[in-house]
Amino acid sequence: MQRIPEEKIDEIRSQADIVDVVGSYVQLKKQGRNYTGLCPFHGEKTPSFSVSPEKQIFHCFGCGKGGNVFSFLMQIDGLSFVESVKKVADMAHIPLDVEISSGDGSASVRPDSQEGKMIEIHQLTSKLYHYLLMETEEGQEALQYLLDRGMSEQELDLFEIGFAPAHASTVTTFLQKREVDLPLAVECGLLTERDDGNIVDRFRNRIMFPIKNDRGQLVGFSGRLFNQEDGPKYLNSPETPIFNKRNILYHFSDARQEIRKKEEILLLEGYMDVISSVLANFNNGVASMGTSLTEEHVQMIRRVTNRAIICYDGDRAGIEASFKAGTLLAEQHRLEVFVLQLPNGKDPDDFIRSEGVEKFAEVYAHQRLTWTAFKLQFLRRNRNLQNETEKIAYLGEALAEIGKLDQAVERELYLKQLGSEFELSMDALKQQLQQTVASTSRAKPRDYGGPPPEEYGDYPVFDGGGGPVYEEFSFQPPSQAPSAGLTSEKRLLKYMVEDRDAFIQIRNMMQEQEIDFYHDNYKALYTHLIGFYASGNDANPLVLMDQLPDDMSRNLVSELEMMILNTDVSTEEYQDYVFSLKKASIERDIKEKEQQLQIASQQGEMTLALELARTITTMRANLKNNT
Ligand code: GTP
Ligand code: MN
Repeated sequence: MQRIPEEKIDEIRSQADIVDVVGSYVQLKKQGRNYTGLCPFHGEKTPSFSVSPEKQIFHCFGCGKGGNVFSFLMQIDGLSFVESVKKVADMAHIPLDVEISSGDGSASVRPDSQEGKMIEIHQLTSKLYHYLLMETEEGQEALQYLLDRGMSEQELDLFEIGFAPAHASTVTTFLQKREVDLPLAVECGLLTERDDGNIVDRFRNRIMFPIKNDRGQLVGFSGRLFNQEDGPKYLNSPETPIFNKRNILYHFSDARQEIRKKEEILLLEGYMDVISSVLANFNNGVASMGTSLTEEHVQMIRRVTNRAIICYDGDRAGIEASFKAGTLLAEQHRLEVFVLQLPNGKDPDDFIRSEGVEKFAEVYAHQRLTWTAFKLQFLRRNRNLQNETEKIAYLGEALAEIGKLDQAVERELYLKQLGSEFELSMDALKQQLQQTVASTSRAKPRDYGGPPPEEYGDYPVFDGGGGPVYEEFSFQPPSQAPSAGLTSEKRLLKYMVEDRDAFIQIRNMMQEQEIDFYHDNYKALYTHLIGFYASGNDANPLVLMDQLPDDMSRNLVSELEMMILNTDVSTEEYQDYVFSLKKASIERDIKEKEQQLQIASQQGEMTLALELARTITTMRANLKNNT
């Protein structure tokens, strides 16, 4: 593996901004001095994930994960340390003259795991398909088809589009030669086992679209027919441990940064639409794999943005699908939704290729319908508004829609539209609206705000009264009295992480008192700290995080860093905390002896019991003198 010089890493670490990096994966809201959002590492509805620009760390108070900018990328994208450094450098536009074999995500795979191997097989196969399309006689017809549709070789490279030949064993032979585990390739859905036991290629005579998951790893394919109509137009990879259509959005991982930048996602229907929209400089486009939008998709979307632009095919099916997707996004999840309707039933791909990139940009910017406007239009399809009864029914539905709006101005606007169209007075409409609103329930409030306490049941222990304050949190974790020992351990460790002198003083005191940290993860971090300072490092939580070998310790450092403590501390204070560790330790010993005492007296071992009782008395006295 490549090594990046230490100074370079320092440079990248100090120039990168964790808020930008995390922000391209998680929608963050400024809250006091920190940013908060929905944790990308565990499912949650209310934010307990926090990013500190000042400290350049993140920490989730829900699942306990935390770290710095590098460990964030390592965890979310499954990257190695070096890859994450490189990615941060890329994102922050810091030149880095080290070549690292990533880019195709290959190194982000943990090669030992089953899933890692599956991804690797997909990468190998994708390279083969792409080569067959671009460079071979066999792929010529498919290539011509794509070029005729207006795609350039550059686009084909960018999307790694490929060709699966009609031959039954192209991929099989190829993988066999590379000593790939064929049954695993069958499990991936790239090969199939026939009844006679022979293994053959599953995708044949199709144009191949590689499908990546939200971390950019290749997990499946979709193959399109192009020169005949025998079979489904698209054949997808089957469900596998790494591929589930419910949580795949085509192009999502590549679109993520642009989605964050534009603060909106463009939802399209087909792969071809996504590819064309990139051509039109809309890099924020994604498409589901022919299924309607799922709850999982919405969760993925919600993490990065609050606004969705639906641009499905302009035909009837597309409009119905827009309605369905919009209802899920706007009404069930309270996203801001707009709908782009392309003229003459065109799909975005047709439109961009026939009308041009500028025309699409203009429609995108200026002809989007608000969700309400789209819905008012949608409600009148199949209705004959010349007919009085139908007209009244429509008006009733339209008013119910308008009644859902929170803003008076918006309501006024749509009422005016209705009024002029149906020649009704504003007074009449307003009166009717009031009645409608009274009879239907108002829109549900957003599910933001303080989380329900039960979600936070398994919190890392928080201090009750005089303990550290986790600043800028809108919620109060359940008050739970932590043991004095734990609070002291936490504080001592925090001082030791942040200050080398504090480390030396506290360590001396602890050695004098012959005590160690009691809780395992605290003890582990303490041991790492000793090594960290011994190798000549200055105090630096971010550098420390990079050097910690396990997530548990890193999570603890980020938790400690999120704690706000008085920085102006005296030696006496350290001493107090050390004493309280000592006290907690003696108390634990006493408890243990008491249990032994109980057993001894139950078993009638009176001599032992007496001895234990005496020891306990001495320990109690000690405890009093010590504190
Ligand atoms: P072109 O027709 O070549 O422009 O491709 P397209 O991707 O735009 O296809 P279309 O608009 O017909 O369909 C939209 C999306 O639905 C596709 O991208 C696929 O994800 C999905 N889809 C279409 N047909 C099929 C099919 O036969 N099987 C499956 N599984 N999915 C399909
Ligand atoms: Mn299409």
